[in-house]
Amino acid sequence: MSSLRDLDDIELISTPITLPNGVTIPNRLVKAAMEEGIAHWGGLPGEKHRKLYERWGDGGWGVVITGNVQVDPGHLATPHDRSYPSSTPDTIAAYKQLQQSAIGSPESSTSHRTRAPPLTICQLSHPGLQSSSTACFSRWPWSPAVAPIGTRPDMSGIMGWLISRVLWPRQSRILDVQGWLRIVDLFVDSAKGMEMAGWDGVQIHSAHGYLLAEWISPLTNPEAFPLPGVPASVDPRLHPLYLIVMGIRRSTPPSFVLSIKLNCSDFTHGGLTEDYATTLITEIVSWKKVDILEISGGTYSSPAFATPETVSTPDSRQSLFAHFTTSLLPHLPRPPGGPAIILTGGMHDRPIIASAIRDEACDLVGIGRPACIRPDIPNRIILNPDLSAEQTRLGGYNIPGSNVVKRIFGGGSKSGEGIPLVGAGVSTLWHEWQLCRMGRGVEPDLGMDWIWGGVILELLWFGLLRGGPLVWFSSLWRSKIAL
Ligand SMILES: Cc1cc2nc3c(=O)[nH]c(=O)nc-3n(C[C@H](O)[C@H](O)[C@H](O)COP(=O)(O)O)c2cc1C
Repeated sequence: MSSLRDLDDIELISTPITLPNGVTIPNRLVKAAMEEGIAHWGGLPGEKHRKLYERWGDGGWGVVITGNVQVDPGHLATPHDRSYPSSTPDTIAAYKQLQQSAIGSPESSTSHRTRAPPLTICQLSHPGLQSSSTACFSRWPWSPAVAPIGTRPDMSGIMGWLISRVLWPRQSRILDVQGWLRIVDLFVDSAKGMEMAGWDGVQIHSAHGYLLAEWISPLTNPEAFPLPGVPASVDPRLHPLYLIVMGIRRSTPPSFVLSIKLNCSDFTHGGLTEDYATTLITEIVSWKKVDILEISGGTYSSPAFATPETVSTPDSRQSLFAHFTTSLLPHLPRPPGGPAIILTGGMHDRPIIASAIRDEACDLVGIGRPACIRPDIPNRIILNPDLSAEQTRLGGYNIPGSNVVKRIFGGGSKSGEGIPLVGAGVSTLWHEWQLCRMGRGVEPDLGMDWIWGGVILELLWFGLLRGGPLVWFSSLWRSKIAL
């Protein structure tokens, strides 16, 4: 077989790869995890999710990773999150149907006939400190978020001070040993349920300032204490992750794919550094239990994974995190001897994707925002031999009306002014609204204005009013009674 270096870009990206557990991924393109904004109050996936996932399932992806599924329905990152409440027949059936959609629609002319179906991975998350009781309505407003420290998400300026007090009326509750062991059980039980529902694997979200990343980061967990059942040789900052990984391995078959999404840096003073991330990743790889590692970076207070610099503007040539993986990979065993590495963020045209794989910056490439506009990027663009390299640029678009919103609310800009969370939220919401459109069976709209098309139509009309205030309030009431 010819070496990867000798292949042309399309052949290279189309080359299958085998994971440490023997499972093969049909090509190198990964639909990155993206919260869809479709569910209500942590509910189960429904018809709109299925419609959306069929679009990705038909798109020619090697792997489809879901947006985060919260393992604790009381702790959501947004009011439109899905969750895994417990392993009831209804829950398993809903996730089974979603998995079926993620491998493509039965009528599709492309998915199963011309390409192998994608590997389906469900992302399991706990937002920790990021979960707002007043924005998500998944618990009483005075019920705090949980975290390794008692604090609120960091926001700068007077506007930031105000927003943080409204979204997090109380500081987070510090989890004790029992609390952490309960979190471990939630992740393991959800993974077991996803295996029963037919998913090929799960991804443990341990990046972006979510709960597991908060434990890892020295900024939010100055002194990580040991958890019972973990060998003394394991770095205390990996104890929850170690228990989750071993718990999932014990309760699922070896063919079940286990992935972890990790930060290479928090991009915040006092947070996780690249040197320390390298040490932790090397240790995780030495456990020989993980099949895929995805490298990202930043937190919601410093959202490197969603900054304009990582969006594919014509002059941005590669991912913000590629320098990290390029120096990391030579020290790791290569698949199938070690985990496949996904690099996500700004990988937005065919030559960039191919050169990242050829230069061993990664084995798989994750694509996020552009997959909200064109769900069939692999078939239609990246692997389409009729398009030249120049015609495969996926991004370079502006979000109509977003600058006005950022000016009013202080959203982060390239120069670093304003509240980065607001800036990242403006872009994330607009892309989520595109996903909501596809969930309704409508095409994405690049020209959609942030206020009129987004807030008025998608959020208020389709999300709230047509979603039905009665549906919302009855499910809110039911969830409150269950708490
Ligand atoms: C709408 C939206 C929702 C996202 N939701 C998640 C999520 O649920 N889990 C996650 O790990 N990352 C999430 N991300 C981050 C993406 O996975 C990805 O890391 C980021 O968009 C950078 O890749 P890109 O430059 O190709 O967009 C989200 C991004 C967007 C735009």
